[in-house]
Amino acid sequence: MSVFRPGLFKDKVAIVTGGGTGIGKAITEELLTLGARVVIGSRDGDKLNTAATEMKKLGDVTPIRCNIRKEEDVKNLVEKTLEKYGKIDFLVNNGGGQFPCPAADFSLKGWNAVIETNLTGTYLMSREVYNKYFKTTENGGCIVNIIADMFRGFPMMAHTGAARAGVENLTRSLAIEWAQQGVRVNCLAPGPIFSQTASDNYAKDFAPFEIARPGIPAKRLGNPQEVSSAVCFLLSPGAQFISGATLRVDAGGSLHSKQMWHIDDHENIPPYTWNPYKSKL
Ligand code: ADE
Repeated sequence: MSVFRPGLFKDKVAIVTGGGTGIGKAITEELLTLGARVVIGSRDGDKLNTAATEMKKLGDVTPIRCNIRKEEDVKNLVEKTLEKYGKIDFLVNNGGGQFPCPAADFSLKGWNAVIETNLTGTYLMSREVYNKYFKTTENGGCIVNIIADMFRGFPMMAHTGAARAGVENLTRSLAIEWAQQGVRVNCLAPGPIFSQTASDNYAKDFAPFEIARPGIPAKRLGNPQEVSSAVCFLLSPGAQFISGATLRVDAGGSLHSKQMWHIDDHENIPPYTWNPYKSKL
């Protein structure tokens, strides 16, 4: 189902990273419904193939295993897409991930993994699609980077907050540098969106969705289809003068919600006054 007209993306070719699960799968389904041919990339080949088989009824979908942290995987994904379809119109950088952890406790390995997936992976995909196709044609192109609600910091998720903020700034740089080539680059920042995949990815004793729910003015979680429709808008001709922007899809939650402060028992600690001169008094 889509609120957009059937055939809107007929003849368009899209790559969606993380396109086999959660928000990425909803994006893929809506693009297929609107007539696009979609290549989905993910690290987990089994899940990817299962999702592709399921979505074949909606249109032309091709699964290609790709770890976006690996340059050779990214090059292969873009090369295989061009071999099969001859062009790329849309890139949706949706693949990403993180785990909750106090900022003081990250191992370097865990920190780097999250930065590499969310920031470096997005950069590698964008660079490769631009160099191998967007730069070589008059057709232009469009990139949507899925980020997160990290605008006021992201306590307990500092690694992904830093990476996503990096992606937002990268988006603005690319929007300027690649405008001459007819390429638009935007971000979409979802609030708490429930998907079984996202829920399963968190530890059993940690319920980020339930923690988030009271802070959302609408008092409910979003669903993946409420993100995919906004992605389709940014990819559509209706957004042809929008570039370098961030669209928040969070029903206003990013304006005031407490995010995850209280899981570190922050609300129970006594008031504290920062006094740099204390030791001299
Ligand atoms: N989704 C989450 N992590 C990913 C990765 N490293 N590559 C592709 N998709 C992903």
